[in-house]
Amino acid sequence: MRILLTGGTGLLGIELLKLGADLIAPRRSDLDITDASAVADYVDELSPKVIIHAAAVTNNRDIEADPSDALNVNIKGTVNLAQACLGSQMRLVYISSDYVYKGDRGNYSESDEVLPSNLYAWTKLAGEAAVRAVANHLIIRTSFGASIFQYPAAFADKWSSKQYVDEVAPKILNAMIDTNAAIFRYEIYLRCAWLLRFNIFLETSWFTSMTTRFMA
Ligand SMILES: NC(=O)c1ccc[n+]([C@@H]2O[C@H](COP(=O)([O-])OP(=O)(O)OC[C@H]3O[C@@H](n4cnc5c(N)ncnc54)[C@H](OP(=O)(O)O)[C@@H]3O)[C@@H](O)[C@H]2O)c1
Repeated sequence: MRILLTGGTGLLGIELLKLGADLIAPRRSDLDITDASAVADYVDELSPKVIIHAAAVTNNRDIEADPSDALNVNIKGTVNLAQACLGSQMRLVYISSDYVYKGDRGNYSESDEVLPSNLYAWTKLAGEAAVRAVANHLIIRTSFGASIFQYPAAFADKWSSKQYVDEVAPKILNAMIDTNAAIFRYEIYLRCAWLLRFNIFLETSWFTSMTTRFMA
């Protein structure tokens, strides 16, 4: 199965590529997703069965300072990919974020109300809106971080349900072939929006092992 991956040089993309699936992952220099005609031509020529769209501008602080890149890449870029899929059976798998939820409680379901608390999440939600126009789509609202804990210290009283990226990547590939799925939510979400609101998100930690405690 021919699969096009955007964002192959990113944290998630690198992990997906390690899994050895049949992924074709052009670098940004080969396919800039903000270029509508380049996207249309590339998709037309490659004619993939699935597009995993993981390219995005993800640095929340940069986006708050200047959202123009995020508007271009996260919204227009996603619109370009969605448009390239229209009228075909191509499956568009969109890597969205748990930040689309308000984040003041856990255990969100796919049908729960969304209310982003930062610009990054609004751009991801706008991307979701475009993806929904594609007949065969899958939106994955996930949360992950690097496999190695990056911080010297951790809060003991802050919780989220982030997973390690190497745990999330195989789940995404499995979900990709589940044709019954339209929106997937991996794990629950707890208090992250609060952390973002108080601008301490870079200092917080995440504890995969505690996820099940909140799911119980
Ligand atoms: N990391 C998280 O905690 C998290 C959580 C939930 C959801 N997500 C979503 O998961 C996806 C992957 O996240 P990540 O953490 O792997 O992101 P990342 O490490 O920031 O990587 C972003 C990727 O997007 C590419 N990109 C940016 N602008 C582009 C453009 N104009 N054209 C083509 N490619 C472009 C980058 O290419 P360059 O290398 O050339 O810059 C890079 O490969 C994103 O959609 C993100 O919103 C992330």
